[in-house]
Amino acid sequence: MTLMTTTPPGTTGRGVIARYRTHLPVTDATPIVSLGEGSTPLIPCPRLSAIVGRGCEVFVKYEGLNPTCSFKDRGMTLAVSKAVERGIHAVVCASTGNTSASAAAYAARAGIRCAVILPAGKIASGKLVQAYAYGAKVVAIDGNFDDALRVVRELGQRPDFAIVNSINPDRIAGQKTAAFEIVEELGDAPDLHLLPVGNAGNITAYWAGYCEYAELGEATKRPAMLGFQAAGSAPIFRGQIVEQPETIASAIRIGNPASWDGATAAIRDSAGAIDNVTDDEILAAQQWLASNEGIFVEPASAASIAGLLKCADPRREPAYHFSDIAEGSRIVCTATGHGLKDPDAVRFTSGPTVTANLDEVMRAIDV
Ligand code: F0G
Repeated sequence: MTLMTTTPPGTTGRGVIARYRTHLPVTDATPIVSLGEGSTPLIPCPRLSAIVGRGCEVFVKYEGLNPTCSFKDRGMTLAVSKAVERGIHAVVCASTGNTSASAAAYAARAGIRCAVILPAGKIASGKLVQAYAYGAKVVAIDGNFDDALRVVRELGQRPDFAIVNSINPDRIAGQKTAAFEIVEELGDAPDLHLLPVGNAGNITAYWAGYCEYAELGEATKRPAMLGFQAAGSAPIFRGQIVEQPETIASAIRIGNPASWDGATAAIRDSAGAIDNVTDDEILAAQQWLASNEGIFVEPASAASIAGLLKCADPRREPAYHFSDIAEGSRIVCTATGHGLKDPDAVRFTSGPTVTANLDEVMRAIDV
């Protein structure tokens, strides 16, 4: 297969490597494999802000608008570009779905092969269809994500494969660019940053990005990092490996996160917290965000919104209570993936079919 790259070295344009080249481990010799990822909207959310109150402003960083509809593309552009630079012809990953979709797309773009190892029966349909459509070799294993990652680590010992999970530092480097974008858009770092935590690469990456921009003087402060795990898959919150993780939020159904230490450091050094939210809270938050702010996210992404609602509720006892935060605080929640990735998670019943006349339709609309 011929290797195809999209952007000649040194060329500016869309995509996180083009935008943040000097902050990333690329040289003129790196062939840039990009689909124009990044530069996602930071959406002000007036209704969420009103819930938090006291003049606080809540924003959602909508990462579902990346090329494969999740934040993984930020790291994948770099991981695949670096793999191609090293002359590797195949990438491999374990995944709960989004990493596999992203790896498959960027491998297709580069003209290299991609193998994805997935927990059988546990991948949301929108993500699985992506891996097939982009032409990846899909292998389902009888086990969970943690088992799949163990196999992938073994595969990665072979010289012909590059692992593109977030244990690959290039993934983390690419993902930190989301923090850069937020600082640039707000003119400074936010006071609080909330995000879902699964394998814990993203919280590690955001913290690295915020620290880098603070050290460079691009930001005057660093946010408190608040991570949220699903209650049935909350190893970091509980302080122990979960052998049989369970949650409707299949993207974060992970019992032994690879970047556990990175998450712990981010939470500790930012004076943040790790908490957990139930599946019911996740689904309620998902529906609330879609119907009140017009932002449709997958269940894992809604964990950050469920977390925000928990932190802002005076009747609850979250790990981090908003009653103590400064007036006018700026709060960012990352919405990591698009809602269409997991259509089965949304419970809906279509209304009755009526005759095609105005009266019947008016009656059915009931407004
Ligand atoms: N949200 C979504 C939509 C995800 O797909 C993931 C991880 C996370 C949050 C958690 O991010 O792992 O960096 O803490 N998905 C991985 C995957 C595990 O295989 O797609 P994390």
